[in-house]
Amino acid sequence: MPRFPDLPAAVGDALHAPSVHNTQPWRWRIGPDRVGLYADRDRHLAATDPDRRDLLLSCGAALQHLQVALAARGLYADVRRFPDPEDARHLATVLVGPAGDDVDAASAALYPAITARRTDRRRMSHRPVPAGHVWVLREHARRAGAVLVPVADAAARRRFLALLAEAGVRQANEPGYAAELRTWTNRLPGSHDGVPAGNLAGPLPRPAGLTGLRAFGPGAPAQETPPPGAPLDDAAALLVLATRTDDVLARLRAGEAAGAVLLAATGMGLATTPLSQAVEIGATRREMRTGLLHIPEHPQLVLRSAGPRRTPARWPRPAPALHAVLLPVPSGERT
Ligand SMILES: Cc1cc2nc3c(=O)[nH]c(=O)nc-3n(C[C@H](O)[C@H](O)[C@H](O)COP(=O)(O)O)c2cc1C
Repeated sequence: MPRFPDLPAAVGDALHAPSVHNTQPWRWRIGPDRVGLYADRDRHLAATDPDRRDLLLSCGAALQHLQVALAARGLYADVRRFPDPEDARHLATVLVGPAGDDVDAASAALYPAITARRTDRRRMSHRPVPAGHVWVLREHARRAGAVLVPVADAAARRRFLALLAEAGVRQANEPGYAAELRTWTNRLPGSHDGVPAGNLAGPLPRPAGLTGLRAFGPGAPAQETPPPGAPLDDAAALLVLATRTDDVLARLRAGEAAGAVLLAATGMGLATTPLSQAVEIGATRREMRTGLLHIPEHPQLVLRSAGPRRTPARWPRPAPALHAVLLPVPSGERT
């Protein structure tokens, strides 16, 4: 029996975190005063994500959502990352206690965004994201130990979109990539994981070849045409989340930073799309870092964000089921 009866509900909240192709590559163990997070390598996309970067980013986002869910319940979270040197799948143990006056208010404030956030692949607003909003997002990344680098001007944006497109072409030729995409997309309503057909979107109405989005195939609903008088391209900010090092800890922390940035953006009324193809492919990841952004940090994930379309999101997200991802707590053992 948990000493903190809210722990199952808090882990249930964490299951709403974004994950690559909605694979939800995590397992959880709930103890009396702690929660263990484990990677589920059976859900690893070997062809899409050969470095296991996306898997760690996805689990990191879930870890961050858990911290938000605990803070919202007045609990503190003491996070031990990679606590077992003999088990690389054991990503974190979160020790829980009453926060008292020390509640993490900044995290708790993100709580309503957990269920409101959705990956939105549609054309976004043609109004640029206010600089103050970008600053807030960069602060969230910084507090989580990462940096968020905006792609600065129109010329850089064009080159960046070309790089995203190149990654798409290279990846389409990777053996096994198309099969993984087919397996995890176009799911029927009622499915517990994967990306439902209604959440996909066709290429953006940008100059040929510069859509910037992952191509999900011919079944993806077409994008709406831009409103009369609006420019062809939307004004979605392109933001690169990067870390000082590129080891497993950095990737897990990058996932936590991604979780915070996505929730903060949702809280400010922005739509968001994580884009990982150009980071999954080694050549485009290196080009992004040294040829385009000229940064010492290592790119981990691209985020696209701007005001949403006026039409509301139309999809129910596949509902994750807590019982399916819980590991038993071995008798006499802690998590
Ligand atoms: C590490 C990571 C990489 C992702 N890469 C992409 C991507 O390249 N293209 C895309 O459209 N969505 C991408 N996503 C978004 C997921 O597909 C999405 O989170 C998942 O389908 C669950 O849907 P939701 O975010 O609406 O809850 C990525 C998410 C994560 C966490």
